Amino acid sequence: MPVVLSVTNGVVTYGDRLVLLDVSVAVAKGEVVAVLGANGSGKSTLIRAALGLVPLSRGEAALFGTPLRRFRDWRRVGYVPQRLGAGSGVPATVREVVASGRLARRGWAPFARAADRSAIQKALDAVGLADRAGDRADTLSGGQQQRVLIARALAGEPDLLVLDEPTAGVDATSQQAFAGALGDFVGTGGTVLLVAHELGPLAPLVNRAVVVHLGRIVHDGPVPEPAGHHAHPDHDHVHPHAPETEPSLFKGTA
Ligand SMILES: Nc1ncnc2c1ncn2[C@@H]1O[C@H](COP(=O)(O)OP(=O)(O)OP(=O)(O)O)[C@@H](O)[C@H]1O
Ligand SMILES: [Mg+2]
Repeated sequence: MPVVLSVTNGVVTYGDRLVLLDVSVAVAKGEVVAVLGANGSGKSTLIRAALGLVPLSRGEAALFGTPLRRFRDWRRVGYVPQRLGAGSGVPATVREVVASGRLARRGWAPFARAADRSAIQKALDAVGLADRAGDRADTLSGGQQQRVLIARALAGEPDLLVLDEPTAGVDATSQQAFAGALGDFVGTGGTVLLVAHELGPLAPLVNRAVVVHLGRIVHDGPVPEPAGHHAHPDHDHVHPHAPETEPSLFKGTA
């Protein structure tokens, strides 16, 4: 299968602080890859670097086989950031936020076409927010706002979805609905890279886990088994079994 997303020997620094050290990861078409690891380990930085949202100080990233610096086909990519940014001050309805996910598809046609409207409606249904479509997005709860962002990404009908903790703060019913939507997405040839702390209902969909620890990938393979004392059928969060030593290049991250 062709490689949809890759970072090769990627290094990211914030100021003089090394946050990702020589990280290589590749996601093939049709895969669902989960990025796991402790807070601050570099998970968000890894996916942001893969999308060119933070610069690599060394190494390379590519999307759909095209080096990022030459990649222009952004409508093929849906991205859900970890948190809704601070309010833009513009009150937008849920439907408007989701519709913004269609903009890259619309070209210069000024009005939403039937295909836009149906993709927007389908995305709202997938996250269970159709009944809130006319409400101001900033009046929704945190978990509901997260679902709005997921719907916005789905509405763009991308080939690749990159999701940073899409189900954090989302209730069990909505997680189940999202897992269903993600299953449909993968069933139609989509590829997914997601960050998660608890896979929950997404677990059956995940093919591979990449565990990040102190800015390095310490595991790339099957989803790690839960640690022994947590080994309970209902307890499916994963622990990175990683070396405790800090890389010597590492400065002051916990
Ligand atoms: N914009 C930034 N400027 C400076 N340091 C940053 C920035 N973003 C992240 N960092 C630092 O980089 C390290 C990795 O952060 P990152 O957000 O990638 O972690 P994470 O694994 O996604 O954590 P979490 O599970 O809490 O989301 C952290 O030490 C963090 O403080
Ligand atoms: Mg993060």
